[in-house]
Amino acid sequence: MLVGRAAERRQLDGLLRRARAGRSGIVVLRGEPGMGKTALLDYAASRAGSMRVLRAAGAEAEAGIAFGGLYSLLHPVAEHLGALPEGQAEALRAAFEVSGGPVTVTPGRLAVAAGAFSLLTTAAEDRPLLVLVDDVHWLDPASTDALLFAVRRLARDAVAVVFSTGAALPGLGGLPVRDLAGLAEPDAALLVEAVAGIAPVPAVVRWLHAETGGNPLALTEAATALTSEQLTGANRAEVPGAPLEPGEAVRQRFAARLAGLDAPSRVTLLVVAAAGSCPASVVMAAAERLGGGGQTLAAAEDARLVRLGAAGVEFCHPLVRSVAYHQATPSQRRAAHRALAGALTGRDRERAAWHLAAAATGADDAAADELAAAAGAAERKGAPQVAAAAWERASELSGADHARAGRLVRAAEAALRAGDLDRAGRLAATPAASMPAGHRAGLLAVRGRLDFLRGHMASAQAVLGEAAELAGGQDPRLAAELLGESVEACMEAGLYDEAARTRPCACCGGASPLSRTTRPWQAVPDASSMGLWAGCTLAVPTVPASTRTVLSSLPETPESLAACPMRFPRRWPAAA
Ligand SMILES: Nc1ncnc2c1ncn2[C@@H]1O[C@H](COP(=O)(O)OP(=O)(O)OP(=O)(O)O)[C@@H](O)[C@H]1O
Ligand SMILES: [Mg+2]
Repeated sequence: MLVGRAAERRQLDGLLRRARAGRSGIVVLRGEPGMGKTALLDYAASRAGSMRVLRAAGAEAEAGIAFGGLYSLLHPVAEHLGALPEGQAEALRAAFEVSGGPVTVTPGRLAVAAGAFSLLTTAAEDRPLLVLVDDVHWLDPASTDALLFAVRRLARDAVAVVFSTGAALPGLGGLPVRDLAGLAEPDAALLVEAVAGIAPVPAVVRWLHAETGGNPLALTEAATALTSEQLTGANRAEVPGAPLEPGEAVRQRFAARLAGLDAPSRVTLLVVAAAGSCPASVVMAAAERLGGGGQTLAAAEDARLVRLGAAGVEFCHPLVRSVAYHQATPSQRRAAHRALAGALTGRDRERAAWHLAAAATGADDAAADELAAAAGAAERKGAPQVAAAAWERASELSGADHARAGRLVRAAEAALRAGDLDRAGRLAATPAASMPAGHRAGLLAVRGRLDFLRGHMASAQAVLGEAAELAGGQDPRLAAELLGESVEACMEAGLYDEAARTRPCACCGGASPLSRTTRPWQAVPDASSMGLWAGCTLAVPTVPASTRTVLSSLPETPESLAACPMRFPRRWPAAA
């Protein structure tokens, strides 16, 4: 399935239409590896209908076989050789023989080229032709010369010609070139969905699009490699992370560009790749620690791997970045992150923490503490998604059980606040039997709140009640809050008797059963929720006077007032 490429399809369709009407046309599709050149040639072939398709492809291994490409392309119409002027036919026959064996004779090049032109036009009189040549840059030079000679001379002939060529090549002698850019973001999302069978969330699409530059091959590989959880869960775009790991096909195609660099240049590129969006001075300081540095970048710039601009160093293509990163060994990558963390110390604590974490193997309390601090900072800045990722990684790196569990709970809570329900659910599902009661309560609370948000009210009521009981010993205020939410789940589920039976248990101590500052709905603002809860709870005859006082002081919004009678008409007496 070809996604996007509307302009290219239109151009190819037009080319075919005109050729059928007896007017030749040509386009050279130019693009980097994996950009979809062959896919567009396939598209043209699929639209050929009654046209005769002649197709060949240049191949690196065959670039030394003179006329090999021309032979592959034209032999299906060799039956028309008899209609050509004798000199041209002979030259072509000789060329085709040469293409089958060692290059000993070079047939008259002009005669071969003229013969190729005559053969195309003669065959086109019989039936319109579609000539497709993939990877022209790998054709043997003799074939390229003859082909270019022939196609430039086509005029009122029923021949459509589509060539493809690599990005690094200049235009082919003035033929019209169409440069293939990456797929647009919405098309990238469609491609990933088609390959993975699951729609990625927008943040993941943004991340993948940025990491691949919309390259369809890289997107295809990523869609195959990423799990459904990765595609639908974490918001990668906001978390400073390592480059996308390229698949084998991307690696093979792009690695060649890095070959030929010396060791100091490679190490510098690795540091640039690991750095993400660090300032250039930090990147170069880190590279120097590892034997690289700014002076080694010239070679990479000359090889058009990186650009040096006002904003610092950037890769010419994001896939070169991912290959530069993943070609290094794991220990080299860790060293690069450690050097970056060192260079960032005192300048940017959060970024330094992420690089320290990337350099860690196994538990690393120093890195975990730094990330926990970064998580706290992210929370204060109102970035719960980043905080969730930082808490989760901090938890993974923590050596002590208690710290690991506590940070896991913080991660789950932050994910819930960020509205990342999948991540929150995954974290809250961590086996908690061996955790201290307070942390178990925290995870249960997240589970219960998730049930609530997902509309599973019966389960929410039970889980939140259980969480309240567990929390009671440690945190009466939280226990009261959870109990209140449990009551609300009852009301939502229509379990009025159950709601009426729920009493602020001893575990709530003297705490108010409602804290207006930590309501879970503040993550999902809904003006009616709080008033609804208050109204309904007030309607439960058994709610004690102290609770009523708190509830009555809640703001009454038009929405909340409207919601209560509508949802529970006459079921409960009006608030006392
Ligand atoms: N527009 C598209 N929609 C869906 N899939 C695409 C699209 N373009 C390319 N692909 C897929 O991406 C992969 C790479 O495409 P393709 O082989 O056509 O690239 P290429 O430019 O010919 O690469 P190379 O330079 O390596 O030959 C293929 O699996 C192809 O099917
Ligand atoms: Mg191709």
